[in-house]
Amino acid sequence: MLQLSKSNRAAGAKDLLVILSDPAALRGLDLVRNDRQYLLEQLKEDRPVAVCDISGRLVMVHLVAKGDREHRQEMARRAGNAMALRLGDAKREEAQVVSLQDDARLTLALVEGAALGAYTFRRHKTEKQPRSLGKLGVVAPEVNAGGLQELADVCECVYTVRDLVNEPASHLSAVQLGEEAQRLGKEAGFSVKVLNKKQIEAEGMGGLLAVNQGSIDPPVFIIMEWKPKGAVNKQPVVLVGKGVVYDTGGLSLKPTPNSMDAMKCDMAGAGAVIGAITAAAKRKLPVHVVALVPSTDNRPGGRAFAPGDVLKMHSGLTVENLNSDAEGRLILADALSYGERYDAETIFTAATLTGAASRAIGTHGSVVMGTAPRERFAMLHEAAAETFERLAQMPFWEEYGEELKSDIADLKNIGGPYAGQITAGKFLARFTTRPYIHIDIAGTAFLDRRDHYRPKGGTGVGVRLLYNYLKRRAAAQ
Ligand code: BES
Ligand code: MN
Ligand code: ZN
Repeated sequence: MLQLSKSNRAAGAKDLLVILSDPAALRGLDLVRNDRQYLLEQLKEDRPVAVCDISGRLVMVHLVAKGDREHRQEMARRAGNAMALRLGDAKREEAQVVSLQDDARLTLALVEGAALGAYTFRRHKTEKQPRSLGKLGVVAPEVNAGGLQELADVCECVYTVRDLVNEPASHLSAVQLGEEAQRLGKEAGFSVKVLNKKQIEAEGMGGLLAVNQGSIDPPVFIIMEWKPKGAVNKQPVVLVGKGVVYDTGGLSLKPTPNSMDAMKCDMAGAGAVIGAITAAAKRKLPVHVVALVPSTDNRPGGRAFAPGDVLKMHSGLTVENLNSDAEGRLILADALSYGERYDAETIFTAATLTGAASRAIGTHGSVVMGTAPRERFAMLHEAAAETFERLAQMPFWEEYGEELKSDIADLKNIGGPYAGQITAGKFLARFTTRPYIHIDIAGTAFLDRRDHYRPKGGTGVGVRLLYNYLKRRAAAQ
């Protein structure tokens, strides 16, 4: 992660990332008239970032966009990203952000875009890391050091989660995911318990065990808890994340080519909830949070669970498996019913659950649905707008659930040909009695090309969203 720190004043010959709301403020910079004129021309043309290369020194300027606050913030993030990429091209290791306007949130948004955009995943490159942007000084009287540190902590969690998502199954088994959670718990100060296969058997998690049957690696069930003194909530917020470290489709094998290439990303929901609880603990949010991650890979194999099999779930319900590629809901169902013991205020799932979610709205947002009361959704939608991790809410009508009737068991794990993202959500809702919110991140967790500060590959989606939700919850008392 970039190192972010406050500096008191603009220092000499550094490259500059400038944000301003009035072009006239450019006079505040020590520039010769021609260079200032050149920047002003570009701003007149509505460029999101004006660039002037002054014999090798880059001065880049973003003029705050017109529109509502969320839009202005997002444009500042994108400008910060564009500036960071430009610095990267020039092999700069350090630069300075200078704010000539007084809205701290906009300055922080620009810094956030730069930090998120500067991410790279080079763990498996043997060539040594080329020089890259490592440090940003922030000269902005309106920004306080605490706000900047919070931004740094959250972006660091996003980096961690992107690394986890980008790490292939060859290097990240379920057991290793459990170890990563343990490491983060020690570092950030939340408790972590990892159930092994024996303990999962003792719990009767028939969904998780069935999906794991084709694997040669054991499953884990990760239980994380952040319970600060003075938490505002009596009942915890429970976050459940899908931790399928690799999804081949099992015996309902995905049709190669292409369909399996990115399936190391199938633990991105686990990443989102691990990242969110890590951020909450790091920032010592006064909210009691529990995060649960059922984890395994999904593979064909001699003992693999097959279409037609009937599973006895953790809750006691029986499920007829009619597609071994609909595995996410099976492991999440066990986690939801395990979650019953916490008497959650709200229980969330985050999961790369259905291709239908990405077919419905693409990569520009995640789909959300559930049974929680309107105010909880409202709080989440506010968090989504503020972080620009956008959400499209689906209907959650009873009829979708009726598609899950099985001839021989209590329910089956697939619905009809339409609205697969909703029937998947309806399946999950059968396993909790608590107010429930399901977020399907299949379209947003992993991109096949860069989108501004969301890199190609793992995006870390959900971390900023859920952290922001928890922060709002902390403020709501
Ligand atoms: N992990 C996939 C969903 C997915 C697809 C995530 C594309 C990211 C990108 C999930 O386990 C799956 O295979 N879902 C099936 C469900 C179907 C069999 C009912 C799907 O969406 O095709
Ligand atoms: Mn699948
Ligand atoms: Zn899957």
